[in-house]
Amino acid sequence: MYAERISGLKSSAIREILKITSRPGIISFAGGLPAPELFPEKEIAEAAQDIFTKYGTSVLQYSVTEGLLTLREKISAMLDPDASHTGPQNIIITHGSQQGLDLISKLYLEKGRVVFTETPSYLGAIQAFRLFQVDILPIASDEDGIQPEGLLKAIKKQRPALIYLMPNFQNPTGVSLSLERRKQVVDIVKEHDLLLLEDDPYGDLFFSGEKMPSLFTLGRSHNFIYMSSFSKTIAPGLRIAYIAGDEKMISKLAVVKQGTDLQTNTFGQYLVNEYLESGRYNSHKDLLRQTYKQRRDCMLAAIDKYFPASVSRNCPNGGMFLWVRLPEQYMAGHILLKCLEKKVAFVPGQEFYSDGSGENTIRLNFSNATSENIEEGIKRIGEVLKVEGL
Ligand SMILES: Cc1ncc(COP(=O)(O)O)c(C=O)c1O
Repeated sequence: MYAERISGLKSSAIREILKITSRPGIISFAGGLPAPELFPEKEIAEAAQDIFTKYGTSVLQYSVTEGLLTLREKISAMLDPDASHTGPQNIIITHGSQQGLDLISKLYLEKGRVVFTETPSYLGAIQAFRLFQVDILPIASDEDGIQPEGLLKAIKKQRPALIYLMPNFQNPTGVSLSLERRKQVVDIVKEHDLLLLEDDPYGDLFFSGEKMPSLFTLGRSHNFIYMSSFSKTIAPGLRIAYIAGDEKMISKLAVVKQGTDLQTNTFGQYLVNEYLESGRYNSHKDLLRQTYKQRRDCMLAAIDKYFPASVSRNCPNGGMFLWVRLPEQYMAGHILLKCLEKKVAFVPGQEFYSDGSGENTIRLNFSNATSENIEEGIKRIGEVLKVEGL
């Protein structure tokens, strides 16, 4: 017999769609994949050589649960250049942010408690939380992110075990939480002494202006946990990410992590550390920002050219996704089946609504396709939308 907590689990529909879209000849806007041609392949290969020269066999040895000190120092300096509130003792390295979601769930979630999310939210997080038999309460959100009034109203009814937000270019919509709302959310969380998890894998991929301050930096208290990853800015296959937070919480997480996998892969940590030391990270992020911006622009132009006027779309200022809304009565799941016949794919937005709504929404990924494929793929979706009577 499987454990009771497994009974409600199902495979992510996105993973199922990805199985189809990995077939040759399909233009896929479905995955959340970075552009592989931009991976710093040569630099990582060089770093692999260099770490053996510098550190010898210790790059293949067991290492500490919290992660390499030198890597944690670099991360804390990125988060807080003045070291006024964050040091290496506030950081733990994880196998991807997805592991961070699991570890935090293990530490804080219990059957019957509730997790508040924005609407829609990251499916991988919802999956991780559900394993701990919590209820997910989606809070009303719009083009500026979660609505603070909605959050307050929900808090008055029920105290959440956790509030989970992606303030920058969130997955799936690409929406960011406005600065004004960031301050309001921070105030609410502090005033009610709640726990907020900020998941920020896309924050460095902004297309104009500069990075907005994190809730973690604005809040500076035990109420805020920050999480980010090198998956989108170096390479996801390395599985190196981190959690930042209150020192006591980080030590508890380390104990939880010991029971999970002892430590994060030593070799991968040394690789990322060496890559950061090489001084190439900033220019690499510039390249990602430039390329993804071009791809976003290309996708927006193609949507405006080929989609019927009744379809609306947003224009995220960063990240890897944009969001499309069909008129109410149209089902994106049905449109997807028609699109697959034309060898083009996307993810129906409904997957990201924990309450099953959002049938008429679509997530489009723009980071993983060339301009030619973006133009051709959007044209094909546009043809299906017209045949379906939009
Ligand atoms: C919002 C968000 N959080 C976490 C993850 C997991 O990333 P990783 O485990 O590769 O760091 C993703 C991946 O797409 C994501 O979009």
